[in-house]
Amino acid sequence: RIAGPSGLVIFGVTGDLSRKKLMPAVYDLANRGLLPPGFSLVGFARRDWADEDFCDVVHNSVKQYARTPFREEVWRQLAEGMRFVSGTFDDDEAFVNLRSTIDRLDKERGTGGNFAFYLSVPPKYFPTVVRQLKQHGLSEPPTDSWRRAVIEKPFGHDLASAQELNQVVHEVFPPHEVFRIDHYLGKETVQNILALRFANTMFEPIWNRSYVDHVQITMAEDIGIGGRAGYYDGIGSARDVIQNHLLQLLALTAMEEPASFDADALVTEKLKVLHAVQLPEDLGRHTVRGQYTGGWQGGQKVAGYLDEDGIDRASVTDTYAAMRLEIDNRRWAGVPFYLRTGKRLGRRVTEIAVVFQTAPYSPFDTTDTQELGHNALVIRVQPDEGITVRFGSKVPGTQMEIRDVTMDFAYGESFTESSPEAYERLLLDVLLGDANLFPRHQEVERSWEILDPVEDFWAGHGRPEPYTAGTWGPKAADEMLARDGRSWRRP
Ligand code: BG6
Repeated sequence: RIAGPSGLVIFGVTGDLSRKKLMPAVYDLANRGLLPPGFSLVGFARRDWADEDFCDVVHNSVKQYARTPFREEVWRQLAEGMRFVSGTFDDDEAFVNLRSTIDRLDKERGTGGNFAFYLSVPPKYFPTVVRQLKQHGLSEPPTDSWRRAVIEKPFGHDLASAQELNQVVHEVFPPHEVFRIDHYLGKETVQNILALRFANTMFEPIWNRSYVDHVQITMAEDIGIGGRAGYYDGIGSARDVIQNHLLQLLALTAMEEPASFDADALVTEKLKVLHAVQLPEDLGRHTVRGQYTGGWQGGQKVAGYLDEDGIDRASVTDTYAAMRLEIDNRRWAGVPFYLRTGKRLGRRVTEIAVVFQTAPYSPFDTTDTQELGHNALVIRVQPDEGITVRFGSKVPGTQMEIRDVTMDFAYGESFTESSPEAYERLLLDVLLGDANLFPRHQEVERSWEILDPVEDFWAGHGRPEPYTAGTWGPKAADEMLARDGRSWRRP
C-alpha cells in the first residue's frame, strides 16, 4: 500500500498538532517508502515565511518527534517538495497563490493534481476555508485526479453545529472525499478490537448480555490542559473525547460483525449500535463531571484547572466526565457501558474492560475465595498495549483456595513489527482514499445527539465537582458505580 502521486496541504500548519504529529508522520511515511517520490507538502498559515523557513520548521519537528531514524536522503527528497503559502483564511490572494503553487507542483513534481487539504484549524474556520477552496477552484479535481478534505476534531460543538458544518463541507466536497479525523481509530490497538472479536471464535460467544456484567471504557490522562486553554475552556472533557474517541471505542466493542471490512459495511454496523445507545433517565445519578484542583503528580506540584494560564477563574468546564450508557438491542440490553475520561488523573491509561458475570454458583468454600473478582478481558489501548484476561485460579497448596490471576498478551513480546503512529496510518489512508478508519458524518451527528442532553443537563446544574490532581477523579464517580453495586477498575 504505497500512495500514488499526490500532495498534502496543511491549513494551520503552525499549530501544535501539525508540529507534533502531522509533519513527523509525513516524514515517517516517506522514510518507510510509502510516499511517492514527488510527494509535496504545502503549509498554509499567517506567518510571513519563505519556503526555506517552512522547511526549517518541518526539519525541527521531524528531528524532535519522528518515530523513524533521520535519513538525510529521505529528508532531502521530501524537502524539495515543500512550499509555504502565507495568508489568512479569508485572504483571496493567498488562495490564488495556493492554486498556482499546486499547479506548479503538478508540473515540477508530478503530483498529478491529487491533493488532500488538511484543516488543522479551529472549527469556526472550517466554513471559510472550504468555501475558499471552492471559490478558487481548488476543491474541483482535474480529470482523473482527486481532491480531498481532511477535517480535524472537534467536528462541531453540538448536534446543530455539526450538522451545519457537514452541510457546508458537503456543498464543496462529495461525501466520499471527506475524511474526518478521529485519531483513536488510527491506533493499532483500536483496530485490533475488530480482529480480536471477529478473527477468533472464542470471544464472540460470550460477548453479550448472557455473560457480560458491564463494560468500562476509560481514557485517563495524567497531563493537564497544557497550553490549550483557548481550545479547552468551554469545551471540556466530554466534548473533547467522549463525543468522539470514547463513543467510537464503544461502537467497536459493541457492534455486530460487519459483512466485510470495507468502509460502508463498518459504518453501517457502527451506526446501528450508536443508534441503540440510550442515556439513563436520571442524568443526575448516572453522569458525573469534575474539575481538577492543584495537587501532586509524578513528584511535581501541579496547578488546579482554574489556576491554569488563560482559564477564566469562574470556569465550569469539566476536566473529568463519566457516564452510564445502555445499548438497547438483543445483544446488550441491560448491560451498562460506563465511560470515563479525565485530565490529571492517577496515570495515563486507555483501556476497555469487558467485565463478566460471576459464576452462578460456587462449589468452593467462599471464605477461601474472597479475592476472587469478576472474570474480565481488558483491551489495553495504551500505553502498555496488549490484552489481559483475568480469571480465578487455584492457589498452589493443600487447600482449595482460589485467587485471581492474569494472562497477558503484550505487543512488544509477540510482535517484532513496530506500529505506525496513528496519524501516519490515517494520512496514508487519506492519500489512498481508504475511508475505513474515518467516522462518517452520520456517526459524528449521532454522537452529538447522545452527548447533547448530558451537556444541557450539566449546564443547568451548578459546577463540576472538584478532584485533586493525581487522584482518580471526583468521589461522585465512585458513588455512581457503587450505587450499581460495582466499582471502577484502578488500572
Ligand atoms: C485529543 C484530545 O483528541 O486526544 C486531547 O483533544 C487528548 O485533549 C488527546 O490529550 C489524547 O490523545 P492520545 O493519543 O495521547 O491518547
